[in-house]
Amino acid sequence: MKRELFPTGKKRKEDVAQKMKEAGYFTGSELGKEFMNTRYGWLDSPLDNPESSLTDKPLYETFKSLLPPGEKSLRNYIESTLEDKRGDAVGIEFGGIGVKAFSQFSQGFFRQSIGVTLADHRESNDPDTTTQSETHKIIEGNFFDRETYQTLNKILEGGRASLILERIGGGVDFVPQEPYLAAHTLQQWYELLDEGGLMLIEIPRKLNVLMPWWYEEVKKHKDTIDFDIATAGSVFRLRKLTNAPETLPLIKPELMRKILRRYK
Ligand SMILES: C[S@@+](CC[C@H](N)C(=O)[O-])C[C@H]1O[C@@H](n2cnc3c(N)ncnc32)[C@H](O)[C@@H]1O
Repeated sequence: MKRELFPTGKKRKEDVAQKMKEAGYFTGSELGKEFMNTRYGWLDSPLDNPESSLTDKPLYETFKSLLPPGEKSLRNYIESTLEDKRGDAVGIEFGGIGVKAFSQFSQGFFRQSIGVTLADHRESNDPDTTTQSETHKIIEGNFFDRETYQTLNKILEGGRASLILERIGGGVDFVPQEPYLAAHTLQQWYELLDEGGLMLIEIPRKLNVLMPWWYEEVKKHKDTIDFDIATAGSVFRLRKLTNAPETLPLIKPELMRKILRRYK
């Protein structure tokens, strides 16, 4: 008997509703804070830090296979890619407070940065709070919720982001393993991205099977979208170039249905 990889129909709706409900208990609450601190080994990772402690997992480690050969620094890669935005860049980390990551960029490179997390896990006397710059804001919200984007848009004053990072690791506990919601969220992030902007994203492993098909779709726009995937790490890199499509190219619905039938 074939295993159903993704739930469909009523089961799919129930699964999504359940995850949203669970995330709801933890969003902006003491319970969420406590949960994060006990459940996750790393919560506010740096970009690069070869001498990091065992409790850190630099973002570089997750995205290194998408960087040019020999590139040893994620900060260097991002700053050189976004060089023409220096001083005016806007960055967002979805699924994290983003304090350490944004504090590692050259001072003033980002005009504004934002971390979107279910809960800000820090205690007020946490020494890490001191590394948060005045230009960095934290939103406690679920990145699948509409209100989170309303708050984000207010902070951005309708502007767009130069950099979008997401690497939630074990935080996938709160992510429905559901391709349509994932596609909708990636679409939102793509639309938030400025021309010339860069996205480095980890996707839930279960959705990895869809990556090669999606890759083919995006590659049809190779002159306007610089795109690469690393299925082993379940990550992708996307750069929106001049004249890029306004919406993210996705797997066509009929092909998607065919693929999903294969796994039913
Ligand atoms: C293991 S920590 C990783 C934190 C950070 N990205 C890092 O690399 O250090 C998991 C994070 O995922 C976030 N997270 C998981 N699901 C989320 C969701 N639906 N919306 C917002 N944040 C989410 C949690 O708030 C938590 O900060």
